[in-house]
Amino acid sequence: MDKLSTLRAEWPQIGLKILGLGHALPAAGPVPNSYMETLVDTSDEWICSRTGIRERYFCGRQTNIELAEQAAAEALARSGVKAEQIGVCLVATFTPDRMSPSMACMLQQRLGLPEDSLMFDFNAACAGFLYGLQTARQCLLAAEPGRSYALVLGSETPSRVLDFTDRNTCVLFGDAAAAAVVELSVDNPYWAVCGSKTDNENMLYCSGLADQQQGKPGGVVHMQGQDVFRFAVDIIPHSIEQVLAKAGLELADIDHVVCHQANNRIISHVVKKMHAAPEQFFINLQHYGNTSSASIPLALNDMWEQGLLLPGQRVICVGFGAGFTWAACLLTW
Ligand code: UT7
Repeated sequence: MDKLSTLRAEWPQIGLKILGLGHALPAAGPVPNSYMETLVDTSDEWICSRTGIRERYFCGRQTNIELAEQAAAEALARSGVKAEQIGVCLVATFTPDRMSPSMACMLQQRLGLPEDSLMFDFNAACAGFLYGLQTARQCLLAAEPGRSYALVLGSETPSRVLDFTDRNTCVLFGDAAAAAVVELSVDNPYWAVCGSKTDNENMLYCSGLADQQQGKPGGVVHMQGQDVFRFAVDIIPHSIEQVLAKAGLELADIDHVVCHQANNRIISHVVKKMHAAPEQFFINLQHYGNTSSASIPLALNDMWEQGLLLPGQRVICVGFGAGFTWAACLLTW
């Protein structure tokens, strides 16, 4: 084996540990389904029975960077890691306040992160946080001494890009930010798969500058819900199986599964398809709706706050979103 292959062979043995989680929700408080009934022709009964969502948060005048800062500060405080020890800051978002500068750069200034560290935003839609963990792990290998921690966020304000006259989309999403401080670890095995494919980019998209140039509204979410549903119930079991195969484990060896929180009917389909125990699958979408890239870290944060995450437990996280993108990882707590 040449030197590079030898080094690469060691790579899977380097795991990833989450040291602290944090979150932020808009201060205006939860918006119940009854409020959505005043905007569009919908009902609490329809939203609950078709999705499981009961309430969500909208940021109003609050900005995405304010949510991100609050979530990141909480994750840093809980991890015991100081801002100056951060070597990488990655923000998954499809709803940055501005197209430039990046939210990660704004966090550098707000949190006092080192100026000579790697900071950037990226868009992998609802799979973003898991893409972020994977990227952070790779970046940390090359981090400067003393900068061995990464800050990874999913931070979203979908309410800025929802059409509040479209009942197919506006009842589904909510705003939130969640963050994790991570480090490389040989005691915390980590396995991951990420992917993307675009058969039809119009199934789920948020319009932008090119749409505006063509006279269409920019910054509006469009979704063909049933197509996305079908994609989700295929890709979630597939990526869970892929990550289990990499780890040499069975689903029964896993303590918790955290799916992207879009619709509890998607999660029920997955449970049935995989002959899994429903209690293995954590669900909190009833409180927040679909918060895109924030949904998985927000679920992990809730689980941690509820005392559900215990040392040594194995947790599979799995996300999917516009692109389509998908990602799954197995974390050891
Ligand atoms: O992170 C992004 C990933 N996105 C997702 O994971 C979304 C995946 N898709 C879904 O979760 C579901 O497809 C939806 C929740 C979006 C829709 O549920 P569905 O059971 O697939 O409903 P549908 O689209 O087949 O619509 C059924 C009916 C339609 O009326 P007609 O044509 O049967 O008269 C819709 O117009 O429900 C109607 N409808 C609504 N009715 C009341 C659609 N939205 C609403 C609404 N309130 N908010």
